[in-house]
Amino acid sequence: MTEHAGKTVFITGGTSGINLGIAKGFAREGANVAVIGRDPDRAANAEAEIKAECTDDGDAMGFSCDVRDYDAVEGALARVAEAYGSIDVLVAGAAGNFYAPLLGMSPNAFRTVVDIDLFGTFNAFRASYPYLTKPGASLIAISAGQADRASAMQAHACAAKAGVNQLTKVCAVEWGPAGVRANIISPGGIADTVGVQFLSKDPTKFDEAINRIPGKRLGTVDEIADAAKFLSSDAARYINGQVIYVDGGLYAGDASTDCLNPPPREK
Ligand code: COA
Repeated sequence: MTEHAGKTVFITGGTSGINLGIAKGFAREGANVAVIGRDPDRAANAEAEIKAECTDDGDAMGFSCDVRDYDAVEGALARVAEAYGSIDVLVAGAAGNFYAPLLGMSPNAFRTVVDIDLFGTFNAFRASYPYLTKPGASLIAISAGQADRASAMQAHACAAKAGVNQLTKVCAVEWGPAGVRANIISPGGIADTVGVQFLSKDPTKFDEAINRIPGKRLGTVDEIADAAKFLSSDAARYINGQVIYVDGGLYAGDASTDCLNPPPREK
């Protein structure tokens, strides 16, 4: 029996990748887990995959819902609260991305990513408030390094993720007095995700990218799930409004210089 057993966890974008990994992580701990995604087939598959990880205490549901549609998100939250009770953990993880330069991006292309990432997070947080367990609820936004670093070909994601970080901190400030905490996980390169698949198309660039990480490897979805479980646990009860970098140390700095085997000092 873990402290997450019987809790209700709602995850946007939870039908694939990192967010599906977070869903499975909570399911293994006995939580009731609901995931939403745009594609109905993916949602059904995710529900089956998460159910396979559930303990006797927990259950899973997955259904189709577009985070850009506030009314649909509100309806999904009501449905989950009706099935499992108030919402203890809400993970806003839905994201969209493609690589394009500013000059190769139409206004609609820019807006599409900002709509999914930033408005999607706003919609999930805003609509969840009436259903949150108070005190005790934990909101988590899944952000990215683009929030801090200006990256070429990523104007939409940089703008959206920087907004996600600030939006989440405002939730921490406004809803902290009700006992609701809001934090941000900023994952580094995570194995078996779309972003890393793109990078691994060029082996030289891929090796250089790994070499820059102080941990000298990619992260795993389970490591992101562990961070989400920690942030939603009693051990994190005084952590609010923070960005937790789960990136092997990459945000702290570039480890491509070998400082553990330095050359002899010049006289
Ligand atoms: N370069 C430039 N513009 C692009 C583009 C690219 N690679 N991909 C999409 N766009 C533009 C489209 O042309 C369209 O703009 P327009 O109407 O001016 O032509 C706009 O973006 C919206 O595209 P559309 O495909 O209609 O949006 P969608 O809502 O169906 O899907 C994404 C948007 C981001 C989800 C989609 O691009 C996608 O599937 N990406 C890969 C999967 C993914 O994002 N995974 C998550 C990783 S974090």
